[in-house]
Amino acid sequence: MEHNIPELVAQLTLEEKAGLCSGADFWHTKTVERLGIPTLMVSDGPHGLRTQDPERDDPNHSRKAVCFPAGCSAAASFDPDLARREGAAIGREARAFGVGVVLGPAINIKRSPLCGRNFEYYSEDPVLAGELAAGYINGVQSQGVGTSIKHFAANSQEYRRMSASSDMTERTLREIYLPAFETAVKKSQPWTVMCSYNRVNDVFASENRMLLTDILRTEWNFKGFVMSDWGAVADRVKGVAAGLDLEMPGSGGVNDAKIVAAVKAGTLSEAALDKAVIRILNIVFRAADEAAAPAPELDLKGDHTIAAELAKECAVLLQNRGVLPLKKGSKVVYIGGFAKTPRYQGGGSSHINTIRVDSALEMAESHGRRVSYVEGFPADLDQREEEEFLRAVSAAAEADAAVIFAGLPESFESEGFDRSHMRLPESQNNLIARVAAVQKNTVVVLHTGSPVECPWANDVNAVLCMYLGGEGVGAAADALLWGDANPSGRLPETWPLRLEDTPCYLDFPGDGRHVEYREGVYVGYRWYDARKMPVLWPFGDGLSYTGFVYRNAQLTADEFAEGDSVRVRVSVKNVGMMPGKEVVQLYVADCTGTTGRPPKELRKFVKVKLEPGEEKQVEFTLTAQDLSYYDETLGSWYAAPGEYKILLGHSSRDIHATLSVRFSTPRRRPFVIDENTTIGELSKDDRTAGIIQQVLAQAGNALTGGNAGGSEIASSEAVAQMLDSMPLRGIVNFGGPAAAGMITPLLEILRAAIQ
Ligand code: BGC
Repeated sequence: MEHNIPELVAQLTLEEKAGLCSGADFWHTKTVERLGIPTLMVSDGPHGLRTQDPERDDPNHSRKAVCFPAGCSAAASFDPDLARREGAAIGREARAFGVGVVLGPAINIKRSPLCGRNFEYYSEDPVLAGELAAGYINGVQSQGVGTSIKHFAANSQEYRRMSASSDMTERTLREIYLPAFETAVKKSQPWTVMCSYNRVNDVFASENRMLLTDILRTEWNFKGFVMSDWGAVADRVKGVAAGLDLEMPGSGGVNDAKIVAAVKAGTLSEAALDKAVIRILNIVFRAADEAAAPAPELDLKGDHTIAAELAKECAVLLQNRGVLPLKKGSKVVYIGGFAKTPRYQGGGSSHINTIRVDSALEMAESHGRRVSYVEGFPADLDQREEEEFLRAVSAAAEADAAVIFAGLPESFESEGFDRSHMRLPESQNNLIARVAAVQKNTVVVLHTGSPVECPWANDVNAVLCMYLGGEGVGAAADALLWGDANPSGRLPETWPLRLEDTPCYLDFPGDGRHVEYREGVYVGYRWYDARKMPVLWPFGDGLSYTGFVYRNAQLTADEFAEGDSVRVRVSVKNVGMMPGKEVVQLYVADCTGTTGRPPKELRKFVKVKLEPGEEKQVEFTLTAQDLSYYDETLGSWYAAPGEYKILLGHSSRDIHATLSVRFSTPRRRPFVIDENTTIGELSKDDRTAGIIQQVLAQAGNALTGGNAGGSEIASSEAVAQMLDSMPLRGIVNFGGPAAAGMITPLLEILRAAIQ
């Protein structure tokens, strides 16, 4: 239906306009009946619906809905199409519930494994997070339901999340914390964006003009409206001016009155308020129009089956020394409370009231597997009972294999607080070690929202990580353990050996008011690679029951120029006996000599399904953007001219092919020439190299202050290196009175050369 929204806004009173910019209650926007303005209902999100039960006056009592794999788990699929399918199923449920906007996806970068909400987020890598977010949003929105991508931006911890300032350089913000939002906005145009609670470089996200207007709208062309996280508004008037359209859930009219007063006092322009109202109403009417079409029937049973299907694609086989898949007919003992009561979702605003949860034990029984069960330890506590331990160990000794279902109890990780360590409950580590000592075919199945230390990793045969796989997690674990499905998940984050190795170990979670992101762009594998550190399991890693071979990696050209592109092709063959899926990952390494760049960065990935013996060629297109970093001196993305390596492989640490491409560009970084510009810098720039060589030829040894004089004092390599960092001022310092006069004309000549 056509709606003339500007005209409607013209008919609203100032008070009505201010009122429309905050929620009517926890989950609804306000109506204006006399003008036919309807309400919009929103619901959490992200991996299923937490829609308030209309029969209950309690925002925390939600209707039964299906819990799909949480962000940590969906990300491990490395499959934007899976995220799309998950989103589409959630979108259908949302339509049936009358929900207009789903509060998700949640895509903050996993800066530290300790962040309590990592289970909801996707990855430590912005390319992976952005592609998955776009898939999810396209899925939900394909059903005529909007999304609210959150939490914009740099909300990577729970500790003092409502006030702490995430302090970082613009480069870090642009390269690590913003690109996933940018990809999602550009590829899927979410109906809304949710700003985060925290401050960014001292300015609350809810009143941050640079984020909410300059970047989001002007640079990325975001068309929807921005809502606050629940209670994220500090100064409402500043927020409206900065681009925060809707305050949720509202402040009982207090902030609306401030908006009215500010407009009357002339400190907030009415035009800014009108803009916010127009943006909100655009979406309110869009949702109402979509809702006018008949809603799909609610099919929770069907969605449960989808949830279980998706969970299979998200599990990551981290280690397998041959025990998996389990031999059908073999005698297996399941140990650990998670076998019966799996942990499948995280705590907090994303908590879903599910219809049913599959447990691996119940699934094994329903498939007639030869499985016995000993609890060993409970799923919700760190509790050790010696008798129960002895029972588990002796059952393990007598079985053909032992599968221990371990993981983090709910109380260990949740929205609202961060973990203080990366360990599993002590009781679990202890029992795993004891079982592994008597049973060589020990498998550990992990249910956790983020990495844990695994001190027993070398002692067990196999490790299968289910993350928090949603309510079908048990069915998925059963299918994967017994070979009815082939694992194809990949780690969306590095699993470090110990907490002390993590990039922000010394700066997380900050002093309370400020968190300094001192590690800069070296987040996740960028850090472990730069420091050449061993890790437990690297980013992108994950095994399969089949094998893959990479062949014929090639580029369509050896060089390309700014504005052009180059294609990269590689063939992948399934050389095993089972159908399987490989995730081909493409990383770029800058070899131009530009300082401060991580050794490699993920730029592309694709998941390919292959039957046994089947071979497929995959192709990626690279442009200058894929080689670039954010250059603060230019205020834009920039790729230096020179050589780049293109790495193709199975994980960040398992590269199968390395190609080399030369890139050329007329763009240059600003070159400041003054007395402190070095001879090295001048020699590297083709515009000044000739001039400085001439000067050197004239000045000779004098320039090194005599220290390079004879070959007894320094080798010619050493002389070259000394000269490399010698500032032009050295000509005066060492060249004597005759050279002193040279400096001013030389500066002029050099500056002219770079014009
Ligand atoms: C969370 C959001 C959530 C909102 C509504 C907030 O506390 O940070 O992610 O959407 O509550 O439940």
